[in-house]
Amino acid sequence: MAQLWGGRFTKETDKLVYNFNASISFDRKFYKQDIQGSKAHVAMLAATGILTEDEKNKISEGLDGILADVETGRLAITEEYEDIHSFVEANLIDRIGDAGKKLHTGRSRNDQVALDMRLYVRDELTCVKELIIALLKQLHKLMKENTETYMPGFTHLQKAQPVTFAHHIGAYMEMFKRDLSRIHDIYERMNYCPLGAGALAGTTYPLDRELTASLLNFKGTTLNSMDSVSDRDYVIEMLSAFSTIMMHLSRFSEEIIIWNSNEYQFVELDDAYSTGSSIMPQKKNPDIAELVRGKTGRVYGALMSILTTMKGIPLAYNKDMQEDKELTFDAIDTVKGCLALFTGMISTMKLNKAVMEKSAKNGFTNATDAADYLVNHGVPFRDAHGIVGQLVLYCIDKNISLDEMSMEEYKSISPVFEEDIYEAISLTECVNKRNTIGAPGPLSMEQIININEDFLNNLDK
Ligand code: ARG
Repeated sequence: MAQLWGGRFTKETDKLVYNFNASISFDRKFYKQDIQGSKAHVAMLAATGILTEDEKNKISEGLDGILADVETGRLAITEEYEDIHSFVEANLIDRIGDAGKKLHTGRSRNDQVALDMRLYVRDELTCVKELIIALLKQLHKLMKENTETYMPGFTHLQKAQPVTFAHHIGAYMEMFKRDLSRIHDIYERMNYCPLGAGALAGTTYPLDRELTASLLNFKGTTLNSMDSVSDRDYVIEMLSAFSTIMMHLSRFSEEIIIWNSNEYQFVELDDAYSTGSSIMPQKKNPDIAELVRGKTGRVYGALMSILTTMKGIPLAYNKDMQEDKELTFDAIDTVKGCLALFTGMISTMKLNKAVMEKSAKNGFTNATDAADYLVNHGVPFRDAHGIVGQLVLYCIDKNISLDEMSMEEYKSISPVFEEDIYEAISLTECVNKRNTIGAPGPLSMEQIININEDFLNNLDK
């Protein structure tokens, strides 16, 4: 049992207590950030004259050595240490001797862990941002390719009005654009360095907190030392944004599962993204989409867990906060995995355009347009609605669609109908006439696709 605080104790820690308290099994995940933070800390200590240049160089090289040895597997992070901070410090002292004992000058594990977690979250936010951008690029490609791929739009999962596949995908494009902007905002808000807050009340050493912050590429320092060691708002914000990403991925997955079913056959998932059944030889299951839908629950769980953990914690640091890590790490890995796999799945799935179009033609998705036709010929909308209702009943009885009715049949229900009704209710017309901003018509889609193109091209600017 290697711990940093044995001095005032006369008894060994009970083994069960030690294990219950230890965090090395999970905080080992941020060994890189712990070393990065320590290097910035000693550089600042030397710049302010608290350590000598020689001490700084020894510590810094020692830390580099630990990092290299961990990465190559020469040095294992084992559970004999209480946490990752103890592991790094103990190994440093083993390597470089007394100079290593000065690393923790002007620092507490409270501000150290606050820094490590921030650095870790910041790195992961960048990674998630890249994954969302890759998904957006794939969605944009699908939109450009499918402005004339007609399909039914649904409400209540009942066919409603015809749209295009580009338009349907465009809805998700908007959702993931908002997700990206949420990640961006969170990054901006959390990008302040807590190191130097000490245990809770700063330190008596003349630390240059601004220097540490700039060495670690933070925008500045946090402004209250008690808040610095006990703020986990950014974790909550991130898990909330992740929950929304997962909710979007889950809805999309649900649609893909429906579209990929034998009944719909709008899409066919690639073999590489499907799995088989051990008993039913005919099966090709959409397991990836189902897993994405299923894993949404664990990300929501992480959010609920940290919200609940934080709600009763008096200022400043309390050990409850150690519980911020495991579920957050799991949520980060889950979101990254789901985004990457989902993008792969939709970039390899095949669209059955003819089936989609046929489905849009059946099911009276053009009924609203038939009513609009009557309105354009002077019939009040409420009456037009009733007349088209009669047309639909008639068609259901005869098992035909609206465009299969003869002119006499139309006239028998309303004399207002003329030959041009066929054009007015044709699938392409129904879509092409809808060109208000955000509608599925070609003019409006072109405008939106251009906006998205600019958005994607200007992401780094
Ligand atoms: N493992 C702890 C955590 O994750 C590190 C901070 C420990 N600080 C303390 N005073 N016990 O929060």
